[in-house]
Amino acid sequence: MKILVTGGAGFIGANLVHSLLEDGHVVGNLDKLTYAANPDIEALFPPSERYVLYQTDLADYEAVRQIFTQFEPDAVMHLAAESHVDRSIDRPGEFIQTNITGTFNLLTIALAYWQALPPERKESFRFHHISTDEVFGSLGEAGLFHEKTPYDPHSPYSASKAASDHLVRAWKTTYGLPALVSNCSNNYGPYQFPEKLIPLMIVRGLSEDSLPVYGDGLNVRDWLYVEDHVSALKCVLRNGKVGESYNVGGNSERTNIEIVQTICDLLDDLAPPQKVSRRRELIQYVTDRPGHDRRYAIDATKIRRELDWRPVETFETGLKKTLLWYLDHQVWWKNILETRYAGERLGSVAKIG
Ligand code: NAD
Ligand code: DAU
Repeated sequence: MKILVTGGAGFIGANLVHSLLEDGHVVGNLDKLTYAANPDIEALFPPSERYVLYQTDLADYEAVRQIFTQFEPDAVMHLAAESHVDRSIDRPGEFIQTNITGTFNLLTIALAYWQALPPERKESFRFHHISTDEVFGSLGEAGLFHEKTPYDPHSPYSASKAASDHLVRAWKTTYGLPALVSNCSNNYGPYQFPEKLIPLMIVRGLSEDSLPVYGDGLNVRDWLYVEDHVSALKCVLRNGKVGESYNVGGNSERTNIEIVQTICDLLDDLAPPQKVSRRRELIQYVTDRPGHDRRYAIDATKIRRELDWRPVETFETGLKKTLLWYLDHQVWWKNILETRYAGERLGSVAKIG
């Protein structure tokens, strides 16, 4: 297939592009290359007969339209987004621009492109929108997010993703665009930008800097290794039913403090600390994230039952792989810390900066 991936230079996108190329697909990667893009993307995926990078902003309607004309995709997998909750607290405007207006542009262009396709290609075309479990809001001690859980987003990030999900569904219902949506829980693994909890704790832990845990550390997230998310995305694109949405998760709920303590202990084994006796001593409880959702947990029964998808990694195996990857790729993340983001606290004040 010729697959146009948006956000293919980001964390999940780069893992997806790698896997699609391995499967033999032709991939167009539409990415603005923001701060969050993998700085090695051009070396990682050199241009070839089966791969092209389009450095383009979703806001640039005409440029995106031309990419559709040139590349002629059989499917679109839409991952491009501003993705970090803390940054959305500081600067929500970019989230509205990319996640809502950018998705609107993409949908408008994809619809016109799809309407002009010959019947056979029109029948098989798919628009797959990649979204998050954060659109469902926050759970109490019990319960899980189902596909039918009402939307209740709380952060500017999740509100912008919820808006984009609604737009995609409206384009299916109103105009017939063959769209599917998937909503996934927290990912972790290779190439995750070190602003997110797991890589931030790894890189700060390796440098033996303080490890900031928001609030009481008892917020719960449901973790999935990125390659398992990639396999779910391919499964939804291949076998998902048009108009449906699929929740994706690894059934791996953990409190934040459990995660940070586990990373400390694993790092102590792999790279014994020099400045402290145990890295757990570096943990610091800091002011909570404004509007911090308490608990996320996914019920992935539908994708398991209907599409026969299952994760391969447990949280323990996935985390070990991730730690080893960051240990082996110190040049990659040190370059990011030096040039793009030094690991400072983001989004701590509910005030637009
Ligand atoms: P990321 O921040 O690592 O990457 C986002 C990519 O989008 C970057 O390469 C960036 O350059 C690109 N981008 C941003 N704005 C753009 C624009 N205006 N035009 C074109 N490209 C632009 O994000 P990620 O963690 O890989 O997440 C990818 C998608 O998956 C997002 O839509 C996110 O909402 C969703 N998601 C993420 C997670 C997670 O845990 N990371 C979980 C569920 C869903
Ligand atoms: O649930 C899916 C979502 O997961 C995705 O849609 C988002 O794109 C992705 O960023 C992620 O959002 P979270 O807000 O859950 O991830 P983050 O890594 O920012 O934080 C995870 C938890 O850790 C959260 O409860 C806040 C907490 N935290 C985070 C950081 C960065 C800390 O305690 N300390 C920190 O320094």
